[in-house]
Amino acid sequence: MLTSPGTTGFWVPVALSSDLPAGTVVPARIPAGPIALWRSQSGRPSASADRCPHRGMSLSHGFVRGEALSCIYHGWSYGPAGNCLRIPAHPGLTPPEAIRTVTYPVTEAEGVLWVAAGEPAAAPPTLAGRVPLRSLTVFGDIAAIEAAAGAKASAEGLMEAGGITVLLSSVRDGETLVHVLVDANAGPADRIAAARAAEGLRRKAEDFQKKGAER
Ligand code: FES
Repeated sequence: MLTSPGTTGFWVPVALSSDLPAGTVVPARIPAGPIALWRSQSGRPSASADRCPHRGMSLSHGFVRGEALSCIYHGWSYGPAGNCLRIPAHPGLTPPEAIRTVTYPVTEAEGVLWVAAGEPAAAPPTLAGRVPLRSLTVFGDIAAIEAAAGAKASAEGLMEAGGITVLLSSVRDGETLVHVLVDANAGPADRIAAARAAEGLRRKAEDFQKKGAER
């Protein structure tokens, strides 16, 4: 069985470790809203609200240089703690402490990147010997995926459905990332079967989403 501790908050599975190489940034989402998930050149993952404090540009459109995330618009850069490190238009200025992005705790375990929603009382759920196989994008909400699977995901997005285990992570309204997990010892046939089952789930969920929108 998968375990899911945590009482005052929970961990959101925002991406697979393999989908965030060093020096990259991707958009993700937690209940508090959209986030920019980035990994510094030295490999440290960080998460900040996806909004530049300067003029509101999405930081997930930015770029990573060294140990900082820079905004694509005017190049203000931010450290993992959210403080502004540099304002290119004023190279001699030490940015005031008050200029900072909201950041969220990130932890990485068993090939999955988790971002805290609230204040989790414990570590992310263990995957019980399972490993990430692949991720796929479903154009549907978590509710549509649950309806397609006839199952309910835990607060952390863990769901057992039709013989496969998935981790669900909302990207934005109407779009969900589905991380497919398989037993670490699964052979090629089981891996192919899990990938096919996940594709079937995706199609069904997108049908549910479409029908819901037509109602
Ligand atoms: S909006 Fe980000 S630096 Fe200006």
